[in-house]
Amino acid sequence: MLNRKNLSSSIWKWVYCKRYVFRSFNKFNVVSSCLFIMLTVIYGCIYLYKAIPPVIIDENTNIGLKDSDGACDLYDGTWVVDENYPLYNASQCPFAESSFNCLANGRRDDRYLKWRWKPNNCDIPRFDVGVVLEKLRGKRVVFVGDSLSRTQWESMICLLMNGVSDKTSVYEMNGNKISKKIRYLGVRFSSYNLTLEFYRSVFLVRIGSVPKHSPKRVRSTIKLDELDIVSSKWIDSDILMFNTGHWWNRAKLFEIGCYFKVNGRLKLGMSTMAAYTTALNTWASWVENMVDTDRTRVFFRTFEGSHWSGQNGHTCNVTQNPLVQSKSEYSEYRSQFSDIIKEVVNNMSPLVLTWSP
Ligand SMILES: *[C@@H]1O[C@H](CO)[C@@H](O)[C@H](O)[C@H]1NC(C)=O
Ligand SMILES: *[C@@H]1O[C@H](CO)[C@@H](O)[C@H](O)[C@H]1NC(C)=O
Ligand SMILES: *[C@@H]1O[C@H](CO)[C@@H](O)[C@H](O)[C@H]1NC(C)=O
Repeated sequence: MLNRKNLSSSIWKWVYCKRYVFRSFNKFNVVSSCLFIMLTVIYGCIYLYKAIPPVIIDENTNIGLKDSDGACDLYDGTWVVDENYPLYNASQCPFAESSFNCLANGRRDDRYLKWRWKPNNCDIPRFDVGVVLEKLRGKRVVFVGDSLSRTQWESMICLLMNGVSDKTSVYEMNGNKISKKIRYLGVRFSSYNLTLEFYRSVFLVRIGSVPKHSPKRVRSTIKLDELDIVSSKWIDSDILMFNTGHWWNRAKLFEIGCYFKVNGRLKLGMSTMAAYTTALNTWASWVENMVDTDRTRVFFRTFEGSHWSGQNGHTCNVTQNPLVQSKSEYSEYRSQFSDIIKEVVNNMSPLVLTWSP
């Protein structure tokens, strides 16, 4: 149970820890974030499951997971151009952040919106919003992570809104507006008794206090052995989607005075990658101990492209093509973060990893 006093002091520390970061974020030209839309589709997804098929795939189609019946490896394929895409118009979706709406921000070409994933040995049925909405009726879908998770949550809402005639029946439950810093957003599709929620938790683990007698440079800590204080709110859901990675770097940690803590002790010399591994292991035991995996399907997104590009990460190299066109090119772009995610997930029990490029 959440203790109100703990919660508010922890949020305060969290805000303190992040304040410096957002100042530099605001300097970015929002228009350059266009790159995101293409990059959202270039992500890998690790699906943890226990003898249940994924929710969006119909049992009657010929699609199966490789590990369950060998029917089709969904991850072995290529991106193809599909003139019937995109599936929604961001300008008509109130939940699409305007800074990520490339066309509205002046981009002229639109082929980057038309990429569709094509597995080599089967076809993924076209996204049928009516079918998906029915499958999600009465469900609670929760996205947890950083801005890449938030923008994916937005896309999912925009995809689903196309199937709802009364747009006013879809609303943010607390009347909140989407912003970079917001900690929680929950959108309700009232005619489907469906909620899609986003929890901003860029590290997934908890922000901690500064131990007494710490060096001056320590202004905040990240407790690698405890999950985010709001994690109890994630448990009671049907689909849980996680990501973390882009905040695990020196500029977003040490340079603003955030250091790691394990077992109540400061770990000043710990590398970000070692810390990332520890945090993911904390996450994995949390899933094993707290989540009812018979009910909740848990996903972890592997590391994906950032909103930005270039040396300083402040520019946008507007590209037309997917970063990786097919599975065979993947090895060139493998990231250390994804390798750690795969290793941690592989060691989880009783969950089964369904993807291994
Ligand atoms: C998207 O919606 C906007 C606003 O309604 C409209 O001006 C634009 O033409 C639409 N784009 C497409 C490709 O339909
Ligand atoms: C809505 O869904 C919840 C489960 O998420 C269920 O407990 C509740 O009974 C449903 N309400 C209606 C009106 O169907
Ligand atoms: C921009 O992207 C293209 C590939 O799409 C690449 O060849 C080029 O090096 C990139 N430029 C920068 C500055 O990143």
